[in-house]
Amino acid sequence: MKAAGHCVALLGAALMAPQEAGAADVLATYSIQGDAIAEPLEGSRGNAVAGAALMADRQRSLCVLCHSGPFPNPHLQGTLAPDLTGIGARLSEGQIRLRIVDMKHLNPQSIMPAYYRLDAGERVAGAWRGKPVLQAGEIEDLVAYLVTLKD
Ligand code: HEC
Repeated sequence: MKAAGHCVALLGAALMAPQEAGAADVLATYSIQGDAIAEPLEGSRGNAVAGAALMADRQRSLCVLCHSGPFPNPHLQGTLAPDLTGIGARLSEGQIRLRIVDMKHLNPQSIMPAYYRLDAGERVAGAWRGKPVLQAGEIEDLVAYLVTLKD
């Protein structure tokens, strides 16, 4: 449980970091079909190279605090969440998108932050209220990258 405590502390610190100026105040609308969001959040698909970099950025995306996978620095990756190796073969693009946008829609108890919601949860510090954790374009970059992880 030592590792889990460390992860949660890091996560708390990251969520309390001040958001850079100019962050969008309004979310793009999206529609959920089943367990997926089929269409890109702002109409266009993202950039897989940018998504790979964001995935590896512990402070910005937080993903590898909980998830392991084929990412840099395996020894720093978390074990609180499923390994994302081969995720692009297990889930569709739209399924991956909904899981990043709002995992709590699928599992209200999930510890995974809802990355594209204005009320990501009670753990969100004041500076983050009213803003999504990641911008729509950043989520699309992550989706574009994760769909390439086929094996
Ligand atoms: C605080 C821990 C945490 C963080 C941070 C986190 N996740 Fe998760 N994630 C989880 C957990 C736990 C699950 C398992 C589903 C659940 O919660 O019910 C999950 C599930 C997923 C799934 C579905 C996996 C599967 O095999 O079905 C994807 C895709 C995913 N996360 C992507 C991401 C991405 C991309 C990021 C960063 C933008 C991220 N996660 C950040 C905890 C986290």
